[in-house]
Amino acid sequence: MPKMPPFAEPGLAGRRAAPPRTAADDIADSLREDILSGRLTGGEIIRQDELAARHGVSRMPARDALRRLESEALIEIHPTRGAVVAPFDPDAIREIYALRALLEGEALTLSCPRLSAADIDEAEAALARLEAERDPARIGALNSRFHLALCAACGNARLLDLIAGQHAGAERYVRRLLTGLDHQAQSQAEHRAMLDACRRGDVETAVATLRRHLDDGGRRLLATMREGGA
Ligand code: NI
Repeated sequence: MPKMPPFAEPGLAGRRAAPPRTAADDIADSLREDILSGRLTGGEIIRQDELAARHGVSRMPARDALRRLESEALIEIHPTRGAVVAPFDPDAIREIYALRALLEGEALTLSCPRLSAADIDEAEAALARLEAERDPARIGALNSRFHLALCAACGNARLLDLIAGQHAGAERYVRRLLTGLDHQAQSQAEHRAMLDACRRGDVETAVATLRRHLDDGGRRLLATMREGGA
């Protein structure tokens, strides 16, 4: 099975040539997967020196990797305790979905009139693969690919990086909590409506559908958490 590209793909988000991979990238990817998959749970302490030793590198790339995961809200860095895996937190869901509505609403408004055929194809391809996918890890990654493809022509690489960061922050919740096929069907219908609106160049409908999609997705996640899913 081909390996999925990393979640927050800088090349995709920023349309820049991908920079060469560093030790910090490798450490961040491996630690991210440990947290997203639940191998590391909320409250666990991550020691910088142990992390560096395990990867056979100096402390500098380990520190860079930890800072990166902090920016994705997967870990918290405390002045005394050091790096700790962020606990599951309903406020985080509310904040991430509110931020996504702000950032993606703006990016889609800018991007929609400028989308190329290749951008639309990329969104369509992610959507088609989402239809058949049942693995929560891959559903999360494909969902992000779809959303980022529709925002790709916004002309602001930093905005796209911020959006990718919010997707990364939500991924852990989505993977853990979202397995309902009901939600998948509704979510896919909304994705389809967004893509169709973008094809027609109907910015208003695309953005209104995105906002409903995020509002509903955030509320369903919170409800699942209250039911004891986390
Ligand atoms: Ni979505």
